[in-house]
Amino acid sequence: MPAYAVLGGQWGDEGKGKIVDYLAESAHMVARFSGGNNAGHTVINRWGEFKFHLVPSGIFWPHAICVIGNGVVTDPDVLLEEIEGLKKSGANVSQLIVSDRSHIIMPYHVALDRLEEKARGGDAIGTTGKGIGPVYSDKAARIGIRAGDLLEPESLFSRLKSILDLKNAIITKVYGGIPISLEEVYERCKYWCAHLGPYIQPTQPLIHQTLESNKSILLEGAQGSLLDLDHGTYPYVTSSYPTIGGACIGLGISPRSIAGILGVFKAYSTRVGAGPFPTELDDDIGKAIRERAWEYGATTGRPRRCGWFDAVAARYTVSINGFTSAILTRLDVLDVFSPVKICTAYELDGKIIDRFPGSLSDLERCKPIVEELPGWDKPTASATRLEDLPSRAIGYVRRIEEVIGCPIDLISTGPKRHETVVIRKFM
Ligand code: IMP
Repeated sequence: MPAYAVLGGQWGDEGKGKIVDYLAESAHMVARFSGGNNAGHTVINRWGEFKFHLVPSGIFWPHAICVIGNGVVTDPDVLLEEIEGLKKSGANVSQLIVSDRSHIIMPYHVALDRLEEKARGGDAIGTTGKGIGPVYSDKAARIGIRAGDLLEPESLFSRLKSILDLKNAIITKVYGGIPISLEEVYERCKYWCAHLGPYIQPTQPLIHQTLESNKSILLEGAQGSLLDLDHGTYPYVTSSYPTIGGACIGLGISPRSIAGILGVFKAYSTRVGAGPFPTELDDDIGKAIRERAWEYGATTGRPRRCGWFDAVAARYTVSINGFTSAILTRLDVLDVFSPVKICTAYELDGKIIDRFPGSLSDLERCKPIVEELPGWDKPTASATRLEDLPSRAIGYVRRIEEVIGCPIDLISTGPKRHETVVIRKFM
């Protein structure tokens, strides 16, 4: 029963979209299991360049059933817009299904996300403002609206009324914001029922059938392990579980179904939003990485913070996920830098530590201890075979492998599907 999870090993934006699109050629199903349209997955293929926020990145393979799982939170307007865009580009969206248990991002979640961030002032998390924290809070508080509820508009009105009474009291009395109209939200729900209804169904039976018939499923992660609600740099995290446990809960599958856990890492580090980032480069090199790699958020357009590869953080995400393979992306970005650096330990209050601290204040005081490696004289960009990579680039890859304690089985050398070096076949 081969399921393979593709997870972010850093703070998100590792290039998972390209990897999922590439691997989906040999998968029968691609299933997203967490997060919402805070994610931005870029896929470049012969039909053009696409940025998906909700639709699984396997959508361009006609054989792949694409699932939006119960762990995902869905903004129906964003999903409908993506479906329309895909239809126009000729993709087959009839293979898309949305779990009836997926929670719906309502207009009041988006309003509250923005009001809460504003109220945090200098302590703002730097959320994407898409309603993610508020919708997952409602899920845990058991007052969420699920996709399946949209299919029963008659019973929805009274539930929406009591929820909106509460939300509007918070919006107006706590934050001095503008109340949200019950009638408008209800009309919107009816519209979503009419247009999204055909895609909504229980997804577990199909997932289980696929696994039982020994067909492969890619479990598509969003965000990165260091943004995990429990295991990330809390409170500077997202509100879902981008780690391996989230894949099981977010789709309703057993860990025993998972044959491979693939951790995607960029060849350097980035972070968007607030929170500790030990290897951050607040200098010309950081800026040069940002401009060369165009490190600007796919969802919000915000400039990403850039820094050297952090092997301490990577070792931690290897251990919490049990990665069976690592995938290194954007190696080509480093083609023009020499030396290239890897952070192998931190200095914390005069002591050298090699473990990622759990305490936020400890992490904030950590200074990176870096190892310098010589840059390479020949570009890696667009390479498709290991033997075509310059030996110093291979040395960089091998050193990362050594310090994170996980084999690097695939390298991405550019955004296009074929710009990929397979070192060892793992699925
Ligand atoms: P939220 O998920 O919108 O609540 O944002 C919480 C934190 O996670 C913020 O620092 C965001 O910038 C960050 N974040 C959320 N989604 C992504 C992503 O897809 N890539 C990178 N950072 C993200």
